[in-house]
Amino acid sequence: MGNGMKNCKFGVFGYPITHSLSPIMQTAAFDALGMSNCEYKAYAVEPGNLMEEVLKAQAENFCGLNLTIPLKEKIIETGLIIPDDFSKKAGAVNTLHFKGGKDGEIYGYNTDAKGAAKALEYAGCDTFGKKILIIGAGGASKSISLYFGEAGNSLKIINRTAEKAQRLAEEIAEKTGNVNVFGGGFESGWDDLKEADVIIQTTELGMGKYEDVSVFDQLSLGKDETNNKTKDEMKDELIRECLENKTVFDIVYNPEETKFLREAKAAANVRALNGMMMLVFQGALSFEIWTGKKPDANVMKEAVLEALR
Ligand code: ATR
Repeated sequence: MGNGMKNCKFGVFGYPITHSLSPIMQTAAFDALGMSNCEYKAYAVEPGNLMEEVLKAQAENFCGLNLTIPLKEKIIETGLIIPDDFSKKAGAVNTLHFKGGKDGEIYGYNTDAKGAAKALEYAGCDTFGKKILIIGAGGASKSISLYFGEAGNSLKIINRTAEKAQRLAEEIAEKTGNVNVFGGGFESGWDDLKEADVIIQTTELGMGKYEDVSVFDQLSLGKDETNNKTKDEMKDELIRECLENKTVFDIVYNPEETKFLREAKAAANVRALNGMMMLVFQGALSFEIWTGKKPDANVMKEAVLEALR
């Protein structure tokens, strides 16, 4: 290019955006494929400016964008983009692909849930035909539930606010035609854990102000019949009884594992994974949509680990 200008621009929009690992991860993927004409940067974009900023990016010939909190739902409302079938049903878009340049169309996709499925596969977990328990009923839960609902898995969604999980389960059942999708609160949480083959934690527990709280802390421990066990001993016993030999996935990508994963690993023999590979695979899937090339997920993972060191 001579003048040092990059002719293939990508980025992530979000608010706040300072902690995003996407620029480091995507840049590593471009570098590994020798795509030195591509650049990927983070941009702080408030919801109120989303439409204007997306149009500006299109006018500047951007090739693709990722959208993160709080813009994934908002972009659909703007009417600017053509969402694919899955992202339309999920009501959330995390990937924009600008086609046909300045006057072309903008397509929307959601790679979060497929990223979660690929992270499970990468960890050696085959989800085919498995019973999945999803904890939480927010935005992240919705796309993951929809994905596995469409895949025909039997699903139970549990949430602190039971009605929200029930409503989400009804919505997923209706949108996918899968009759094995149920929702409820935390009352029968231990039984739900026991019933499931794969457990996916999508709530904010384990992050920020909830760093020292796990889902297990919110489930009733019942009565200690012998009266000589501590609460922690009772909790460990229930974890062992309900989780032994299962896959436990916490989608939080905090490098320090969440209390939920630490407790599960300490009390039972589990296959435990955090959100790091989900972050990597949702990014790798966006990369493929934009470039048609498959990036090296391990290169992207190393870049993330390096940045967190
Ligand atoms: P996201 O887009 O990350 O999924 P969200 O849509 O705000 O975020 O959803 C947050 C989820 O975390 C919800 O399932 C929420 O439960 P409620 O519906 O009962 O609010 C859950 N959550 C947040 N704080 C929680 C807490 N202290 N205990 C249990 N669940 C919590």
